[in-house]
Amino acid sequence: MIGSRLLGSGSALPRRVVTNDELAARVDTSDEWIVERTGIRQRYIAGEGETTATLATDAARAALADCGLGPADIDIIVLATATPDNTFPATATKVQHALGCNGGIAFDVAAVCSGFLYALCVADSMLRTGMGRRALVIGAETFSRILDWSDRTTCVLFGDGAGAVVLEAQGEASEGDKAPGVLATRLHADGASHDLLYVDGGPSTTQTVGHLRMKGREVFRHAVVNLSDVLKEVLEEAKVSAEDIDWVVPHQANARILDATAKKLGIPREKVIVTVHEHANTSAASVPLAFDTARRDGRIKPGDLVMFEAMGGGFTWGASLVRL
Ligand code: ACO
Repeated sequence: MIGSRLLGSGSALPRRVVTNDELAARVDTSDEWIVERTGIRQRYIAGEGETTATLATDAARAALADCGLGPADIDIIVLATATPDNTFPATATKVQHALGCNGGIAFDVAAVCSGFLYALCVADSMLRTGMGRRALVIGAETFSRILDWSDRTTCVLFGDGAGAVVLEAQGEASEGDKAPGVLATRLHADGASHDLLYVDGGPSTTQTVGHLRMKGREVFRHAVVNLSDVLKEVLEEAKVSAEDIDWVVPHQANARILDATAKKLGIPREKVIVTVHEHANTSAASVPLAFDTARRDGRIKPGDLVMFEAMGGGFTWGASLVRL
């Protein structure tokens, strides 16, 4: 196929782990409630000197090392984040500078928890049209910095981190059913539900950074329906069936959403990569972070058919099928 293929991955987490019990000492919650409703047992929280850009840079370095490439091999950096270091410039330009690959294309994509899917699609499209040979696609977040730490309904759900993949253009058609590449992607957005999950601040409205606000139960309901629908669309477009998928790497918001979506599609629980218990919801970072975790522990292997999927604020949602 003509398009792009995934060469390697990397991820990065802050130094500090925060357990549910530590949160229970700050707000009226319990380890039992959090584990039962979400599956989350702990999260990583960025400390002094750790920002979205530093985590993204560490993940990008790990992804480059994973496929034996250096900064000079990268033409395009697309960074998905809802928590940039600054309103501008794009955090991607800070990463570009830190890596030392100045001169190419670098910009951020804002699609919250679906950000990595949007960034992957943008980078894949740019490589298909010859705008570069290789791209770094990064999802990186420091959601701890936009949480209302007195609101138990949201502060227990999120964590910080970053994940990255390297994509390479393949101009020559490679033959066969099992040829590697980004096979099919579908993205959606529906702004009608923007007030179910949003940040109550911003440069053009309050001139403050603001805090995350979420009507969790309603988000949950939309998530299961939207994700099942978009997964079916991608399977149809790629002309494969759910049984052909080796691994699903979903956005890690809530273990119950992962279970419900897999069940709706008839995908066995064992084929779903779950890291929410360890990382919590890291928004745009969660898919590449989970993917890198499962590659490094040996579950996801070369040749596997992998489905990425995510849904987030906006609402935005999407899925992408990749043969490694
Ligand atoms: N500890 C203890 N009790 C709590 C907590 C807490 N941390 N949070 C809420 N509660 C209470 C509520 O106050 C409520 O009490 P009440 O019945 O006395 O009013 C009760 O628990 C039930 O609250 P619900 O919100 O109905 O609980 P639910 O079972 O729906 O679980 C959750 C909440 C975990 C947020 C769930 O709805 C969820 O995961 N939603 C989806 C979130 C998501 O997927 N986001 C994805 C996108 S994220 C992004 O894009 C940035």
